[in-house]
Amino acid sequence: MADLESDLSFQLHENLSIGRVPQWILTDPGIYELEVQRVFASNWYFLGHESEIPNPGDYVSRWYVNDPVIVSRGNDRKINAFLNSCTHRGTMLCSADFGNKANFICPYHGWTYSLEGKLNGIIAGDKIYGTEMDRSEWKLRKLPRLETYHGLIFASLNENVVPLDEYLGNLKWYFDILLGRSDKKMQVKGVPFRWVVEANWKIGSDNFGGDAYHTAMTHRSTVELGIAPKDPMFASYGHQVVLDNGHGLNVITPSPVAPKVPPFQGLPEVMWPMFERNLTEGQLEVFRNTAVIDGTCFPNLSFLSPMHGTGGHAHLTNFLTLRQWRPLGPGKMEIWSWFLADVEAPEEFVQESYKRYVNTFGPSGVLEQDDAEIWSRITSASKGLMARDKTLSYNNVMNYVMGLDSVEPDPNWPGPGIAYPTCYLEAVQRAFYEKWHECIAKD
Ligand code: FES
Ligand SMILES: [Fe+2]
Repeated sequence: MADLESDLSFQLHENLSIGRVPQWILTDPGIYELEVQRVFASNWYFLGHESEIPNPGDYVSRWYVNDPVIVSRGNDRKINAFLNSCTHRGTMLCSADFGNKANFICPYHGWTYSLEGKLNGIIAGDKIYGTEMDRSEWKLRKLPRLETYHGLIFASLNENVVPLDEYLGNLKWYFDILLGRSDKKMQVKGVPFRWVVEANWKIGSDNFGGDAYHTAMTHRSTVELGIAPKDPMFASYGHQVVLDNGHGLNVITPSPVAPKVPPFQGLPEVMWPMFERNLTEGQLEVFRNTAVIDGTCFPNLSFLSPMHGTGGHAHLTNFLTLRQWRPLGPGKMEIWSWFLADVEAPEEFVQESYKRYVNTFGPSGVLEQDDAEIWSRITSASKGLMARDKTLSYNNVMNYVMGLDSVEPDPNWPGPGIAYPTCYLEAVQRAFYEKWHECIAKD
């Protein structure tokens, strides 16, 4: 590990400042092991949304990288997150994705736990164990920290992690636009889609965080179909914003050569007064003039609020999706994808919005397929001896030089963060890798 860290330290320090990232960090097994400990276990990790478990007894089965987790609502309505593993001999308690239970009963020997994780039932317990076992020692294992923001449930395996509020930092200002704009906030509709892609997780975070540049080529079919404008700069308009702790986003405004898009991403007019009630002047200014918002909450939660449709701009429909790039190893990830809608949104709009989401960013969605194919190709091309040569004798670094010296921040941007007046930029990705390296380099 020490060699690995010094290789990495040297190569990132030397290269990141000049916009280069060694390609071998996408596929190196040692890096993956370090990431599990120092990136994922040490920071906050997204587990789901409160609206997925509205009632006492509701639960969802999730993964904190490789740890199976039950996220449930107790009788006191509080949310708990437990390791999904019996304390007797380790059996996974819940195998269903979601449900409602009065207790968690182990399928092996029947130990039974309350919604709050208390061991309150053992088959023939008194006869077998008598007084030799203190049941309170054998409750379910809670994840050390759990906090929420606008319904987003995050946990951490690091007891000493900074409060979630501080960790999200100035990303909260933008989360407020996406998740806090309505009186009753947002709710998840349906269950999250998930599917496995042979690609490194960082490519997803990098792409959603700052790579507006790929849209004209990777998603060229959408231009040909008339879904996106015929302007190679169409995703460049707007601002790329570098935020605290490796978070970042693009706020993309409509192409000047395309027809105007309606305010508030085309969300129904009946909702606008609600937005005006819940958001500040600065947030309203950004939200009113935006076509697409996409970004990444470090390390692996991304969000996307685009407008899609066919048949001209009058038919564009907005949706909001959350993405988690769950690593399954250095070269493989499981993508989780949630669809959210404002609780107060008219049902007809929600139906239309859901259709757009499925058609574009569902597992077989047009844009989703485009991305997954490219991300797998990156990973395949980064596994061989040449790409993984740590001497860098093949110049095997990825290029992140876009806008390194040529783009200055916009002093008039109404929101927090360092906002650059173009989305064809790699400032967010450079900041992502700086934070990533800060985590990896820490003992
Ligand atoms: S492993 Fe769960 S009751 Fe024995
Ligand atoms: Fe894409």
